Amino acid sequence: MAIDRRQLMTTALGLSAAAISSRPSAASTMSYEEAVQASRTPLRSTPRDRELVRFATLAANSHNTQPWIFSARGNEIVIAPDFARRCPAVDPDDHHLYVSLGCAAENLVLAASTLGWRANPVVDGDRIVIALEQAPPAASALAGAIPVRQCTRAAFDGRPVVPEMLRQLERACGEPNVSAILMTERAAIAKVADYVLEANSAQMRDKAFMRELVSWMRFNEADAVATMDGLFSHVSGNPSLPAWSRGRS
Ligand SMILES: Cc1cc2nc3c(=O)[nH]c(=O)nc-3n(C[C@H](O)[C@H](O)[C@H](O)COP(=O)(O)O)c2cc1C
Repeated sequence: MAIDRRQLMTTALGLSAAAISSRPSAASTMSYEEAVQASRTPLRSTPRDRELVRFATLAANSHNTQPWIFSARGNEIVIAPDFARRCPAVDPDDHHLYVSLGCAAENLVLAASTLGWRANPVVDGDRIVIALEQAPPAASALAGAIPVRQCTRAAFDGRPVVPEMLRQLERACGEPNVSAILMTERAAIAKVADYVLEANSAQMRDKAFMRELVSWMRFNEADAVATMDGLFSHVSGNPSLPAWSRGRS
């Protein structure tokens, strides 16, 4: 069984798999609110694989390209790269794409544990093979955060992060070959901000980067729901625009 996000939405509408190919725009019959609700509804125990995949697709992923193909068989779920969703301009070596697969695997492992399945992920070539075995259910704060976590691009209110949260961030980086550099001094932050701005400006001058970025932008709710991927301009504080305004019907 291969599953993608559009199919998950089709299931949420109560349509069968056969309806997917005959009605490719099934997901777009949902309103934006309904689609958000359907994708972020609390984890259910059945159908197990679809539910685990639904939670996996809520993971952070570069440009929200949803660059993965899930397949499930018995007690094994495989996450494979979807190279049709590559971003050659910003990610020529697929580094972001593979990081995104790792994020999805992490979500899947956490979600599985709450349902009473210990998930053992193994990297096999360019795929992640996750074997599930029954275990006592183990809820965790991280698993609980999956349906509510999201990136914010809202303006930072300037309040310092509380020290305990900084410690938590530091601890989260306590992996081999990983280290955190925390900057709390205004002067140090300003210096990095200058570099970020410079890098950002360089990217915006790059036509291929901009073309690719725009191709993954969704300028209104209907576009966002029809594709169930990409970056919805509204969440970056921009107004919704009709599709024709960027040359699409
Ligand atoms: C490898 C990777 C690189 C990312 N790079 C950026 C970035 O440069 N700028 C940004 O605003 N978000 C970046 N993101 C965040 C994604 O855009 C975000 O995870 C995706 O749109 C899904 O939205 P969500 O995390 O709110 O669910 C990145 C995420 C990943 C996994």
